[in-house]
Amino acid sequence: MLIALITAAMIAATPQNDGNVPQLREDNISEVVAAMTPEEKCMLIIGGRAKNFNGIGYINTGVPGAAGVINGIPRYGIPTVILADGPAGLRISPTRENDPLTYYCTGYPIASMLSSTWNIDLVEEAGKSIGNEVLEYGIDVLLAPGANIHRNPLCGRNFEYYSEDPYLTGMMAAAMINGIESNGVGTSLKHFAVNNQEFNRLANNSILSERTLREIYLRNFEIAVKESQPWTIMTSYNFINGEHAAESHRLLTDILRGEWGFEGVVMTDWGGGYDEPAIVRAGNEMIQPGGDQKYINVLNAIKDGSLSMEDVDRAVTRILQLVVKTPKFKGYVHSNTPDLAEHAKVCKKVADEGVVLLKNKGAALPVSREQEIALFGTTSYDFIAGGTGSGDVHRPYVVDLMTGLSNLNFKLEKDVTSFYKEFMADEAVRRKRLDGKAKWYIDAERAIEVVPEELIEKASETADAAMITIGRVFGEGKDRDYTHSYCLSKREQELIDRVSKAFHAKGKKLTVILNVGGFVEMTSWQDKADAILLCWQPGQEGGNTVASVLCGEVNPSGHLPSTISTKYELEPTANNFPQVYTYKPFNYSYYRQILHKKLPLHTVKDIDYTLYEEGIFMGYRYFNTCAPEAIAYPFGFGLSYTTFAFKGMKVEPTEGGWNVKVTVTNTGKVAGKDVVQVYVKAPKGKLEKPERELKGFAKTPELAPGQSCEVSIFVSREYLASFNEATNAWEIDKGNYTFVAGQDSIDNSQKVKVKVD
Ligand code: BGC
Repeated sequence: MLIALITAAMIAATPQNDGNVPQLREDNISEVVAAMTPEEKCMLIIGGRAKNFNGIGYINTGVPGAAGVINGIPRYGIPTVILADGPAGLRISPTRENDPLTYYCTGYPIASMLSSTWNIDLVEEAGKSIGNEVLEYGIDVLLAPGANIHRNPLCGRNFEYYSEDPYLTGMMAAAMINGIESNGVGTSLKHFAVNNQEFNRLANNSILSERTLREIYLRNFEIAVKESQPWTIMTSYNFINGEHAAESHRLLTDILRGEWGFEGVVMTDWGGGYDEPAIVRAGNEMIQPGGDQKYINVLNAIKDGSLSMEDVDRAVTRILQLVVKTPKFKGYVHSNTPDLAEHAKVCKKVADEGVVLLKNKGAALPVSREQEIALFGTTSYDFIAGGTGSGDVHRPYVVDLMTGLSNLNFKLEKDVTSFYKEFMADEAVRRKRLDGKAKWYIDAERAIEVVPEELIEKASETADAAMITIGRVFGEGKDRDYTHSYCLSKREQELIDRVSKAFHAKGKKLTVILNVGGFVEMTSWQDKADAILLCWQPGQEGGNTVASVLCGEVNPSGHLPSTISTKYELEPTANNFPQVYTYKPFNYSYYRQILHKKLPLHTVKDIDYTLYEEGIFMGYRYFNTCAPEAIAYPFGFGLSYTTFAFKGMKVEPTEGGWNVKVTVTNTGKVAGKDVVQVYVKAPKGKLEKPERELKGFAKTPELAPGQSCEVSIFVSREYLASFNEATNAWEIDKGNYTFVAGQDSIDNSQKVKVKVD
């Protein structure tokens, strides 16, 4: 009834296209804003899921599978701007009703793998090719990248994020944004901020100190904003110290715009935020994906004066400043035929550099293609390209490891491969039945491990080496289950154990490949494997990438973007991370109850609030400082088939900071690339500091055996500062800082003391 009345009122209030209204141009935005009615302004502020009030708004995105729109208003020449998900590529529907054509998008490696390359240029190149698909499929803004922090290994969306370190995260996100936006399309840096878990994500309150907020959970966004100035930023669902992120004036106006100089548009996450006028007042321009009630709430607030026209006009102006930059506004005619074959090559190239070799005892890898491989593990035959939820891309294919190895002419032990092929066909039937009712937020059922012992025994006689792939897939809407996702199952443990025993008894080696979106428990089984390769979720070319690394055609050069601990319980956040496991998002009904004021907010620890008790001592900042014995594989770690030596480290002052120079020499027998990581250890001062913090990094070019290069890395003085809560300011203590250039976060080989005044 209410909607009907409002609609009727608007029909009367909204002038029809009389030809006398201004048509939007880059230089007449204020004129258009001045001509708009409050109803029209509301249609811009809320997304497209509102009723088509008087022909102003659009419900259809125009591109099936896109996530939303900025409503078009034809009488001012404002086109409908289309927003679609990422980050591991563009997410739109691959097929359309009554249309024989397909609209697949390239499935790139997940963000955690991109950051494992430590190669900014390469990540920018990936961004360029993703952005080309965005442009050619008629999308204006990609809702990516995700720049939240790997605070705990069980976060369901870690795969969409880059690292536990804010500097690495910020630089990677900036490279991705710069690459995508070089196509003249936009991005949305998300989820701003402190959104490091999925459990109860719409209502959870992240409670943390101001220093922790500034140094860890905002620094990532700050760097990304300063280095790339994204077209848009998406606020997160959660509360931060009791205030909803989408409604925080301090976060969105004082810090984001005031301190960091952000010039773009802020939008809510889909359905995030409780109080629409408060969202707009905070400096959040767009409420996505809209909805009738949201429209009505904004309009009523304008009418009763609780939302000022000044706030509304500011929001509308910024939205129109975004609209005029879009391909849609510029009349770009998209082809719907991006060069998918070329992009697949980029996908493989990027994935090749993101594979992390964690262990290589007795030079188990690379293996010669002459050797016969017994390929175990159901995931070897059903590779996982990426995670689930809105970050899942509809890719045209996924190359599994069996195919990847065959493409490179590896010989596979026939009985093992035939067993798996047959078994996987049977499993497909079972999985289909279980997956029949699956929704986007429920992870697809994976095949179980049941290979007969006799087959392992027999293969160990005939094959030259064994390989097992362990797979994990998860995603948006829920966190991972410690028992079923982080730990290996009994059957997986048995498989590793049996294959290891059988092959080792004959002097043959076992490689375990981790095809995962996040870390798994390794302490219990890692000694049974000779080599361990972390190939993450490497995108659609996954099997080809892993095969290239296994045979040595690609020398692994990936380094860990987060620490792998010896035991989950020893993680600094283990006692402050929700431990309630569900197979579907828990939060929605709870959220609604809160909305209707039936439940008090934020009363139960680890259910509706999360204490960031570890403060800034998270990830390697904690492990390296307080618990080195709990490190299984340090932050920044990664092996190669060759060895590198660093020497001659120099730190030269330059404008705004220092240039750190190191000579890297390939001291081994094959060509390869290494990563130089610059950490800074602060002197004892007013504030407690971690043992070291990452302040710069660079990937070397490929170095031939014996070849050297000098790497120069800029360390900004600004990033040496810590946030002092007592003075509410960033401060740099005077004294001697130790600059360390290492291959990982525990390497101390190259150090220089620098006096800072
Ligand atoms: C996710 C966002 C996504 C949006 C639109 C939300 O559920 O948190 O990352 O961009 O949906 O699909």
